[in-house]
Amino acid sequence: MRGQRFKLQCVSRGALPGGVLVVSSIVLLLSTAGALASQDPSSCVVCHRDPDLLVTNKKLYDYFKQWQSSVHQQEDVSCEDCHGGNAELSDKKAAHGEGIGGAAKSSGVNFKNIPKTCGECHDEILQGFRKSAHFEHVAAEEQGDQGPTCVTCHGSINVDVLDVTSIGKSCARCHNEESDNHPENPEKATAILNKFLSIHRFYRYITVRAEPAEAKAFFRDMDQRLEALTVTWHTFDLAKITEETEEVLSRLKAKRDELRKSRSESKSENKE
Ligand code: HEC
Ligand code: HEC
Ligand code: HEC
Ligand code: HEC
Ligand code: HEC
Repeated sequence: MRGQRFKLQCVSRGALPGGVLVVSSIVLLLSTAGALASQDPSSCVVCHRDPDLLVTNKKLYDYFKQWQSSVHQQEDVSCEDCHGGNAELSDKKAAHGEGIGGAAKSSGVNFKNIPKTCGECHDEILQGFRKSAHFEHVAAEEQGDQGPTCVTCHGSINVDVLDVTSIGKSCARCHNEESDNHPENPEKATAILNKFLSIHRFYRYITVRAEPAEAKAFFRDMDQRLEALTVTWHTFDLAKITEETEEVLSRLKAKRDELRKSRSESKSENKE
């Protein structure tokens, strides 16, 4: 049931790559805050937060701490949403079921099941990812020789988004001279995310300066483009990603320039 609710939130929420939440989502966030506060934690959390574990099984406790400081915890995405198991049962064996860790083939966090698990909520991204050479690799290879899956790039529990400073290193784990697997990819990806610095800057400028009605129409279109761009990212068609990024950037810049011009005109009118 939890998953269902989040599915709704995921599609209605736009987020700028790099983690800037789009304005319209704040309303949604506030409207769900009450519901979140009243929700009981799952049996998984009740057990796994036990501070005794810090002494008896620190590694296990660290996983809990990671989740506790994650976006997913804040969004009420709990252990069972990714791992499976039964979060209503307080007996360990019963709650864990057939296998709860990455090694169990039935587990949601088993290497091959990860795209599907994350895709329960990030469904449009999964659709893009399915078209990529990366997905083919995940589907084809046995564990050990791993093509990148969602957690390779974003981390598993305390997920992170890549930015201009981190993306090159992330891609270079596999795309480098030694592997001879498209060693130019890290640099290309870095160049694209570099443009996001300006995208964020223009986006903020327009948010602050545009009249509300004007901003609304502009951002309706812009947020759709940005969401589509996140999906395109996951196809890893670098030429198409570059094209869509440049389109977004030029639209934002044109709007910024227009607002700037009308500001300087009204300033000089005031002086006269
Ligand atoms: C090879 C690396 C890679 C893989 C594999 C990958 N992603 Fe991404 N992901 C990115 C990049 C690059 C972006 C766009 C830049 C950014 O925001 O990090 C992104 C953006 C995102 C975002 C948007 C973040 C935001 O707030 O804008 C989400 C959510 C996401 N990915 C989820 C997934 C899921 C789910 C999967 C698996 C189905 C996946 N990713 C697979 C690299 C990857
Ligand atoms: C009664 C307490 C208890 C409950 C309830 C519980 N766990 Fe555990 N869990 C543990 C303990 C203790 C361990 C350490 C390994 C062991 O003793 O089996 C563990 C291990 C794990 C592991 C490590 C993987 C492995 O197989 O080694 C994962 C993942 C996990 N639990 C997830 C969950 C999830 C998801 C839920 C809820 C559906 C859950 N746990 C419910 C106590 C619990
Ligand atoms: C957003 C999805 C997600 C959530 C939420 C999540 N996990 Fe995980 N967890 C994963 C993934 C994916 C892995 C596998 C790591 C890998 O392959 O790098 C993992 C690995 C683990 C492991 C290591 C054992 C193993 O399988 O290798 C433990 C223990 C664990 N998680 C416990 C928890 C607990 C306890 C919670 C809740 C407090 C939780 N996780 C919440 C996705 C999640
Ligand atoms: C039960 C639903 C659910 C599942 C399962 C889930 N997520 Fe999320 N995830 C969310 C929500 C809700 C957000 C916050 C809104 C957004 O950015 O879409 C989020 C945010 C993210 C972000 C953006 C974080 C940021 O800092 O902006 C990434 C990356 C991400 N998830 C990756 C993953 C990965 C990888 C998995 C699988 C291991 C996963 N998610 C599984 C619901 C889910
Ligand atoms: C875990 C290893 C791994 C990581 C990390 C990884 N890739 Fe890949 N990538 C592969 C494999 C394997 C292929 C398939 C190569 C083939 O079949 O020729 C591939 C193929 C590609 C392709 C298609 C081939 C091409 O260049 O035309 C692109 C584009 C690509 N990756 C971009 C990226 C980007 C960008 C990143 C970082 C955000 C990244 N990859 C991270 C393993 C990885």
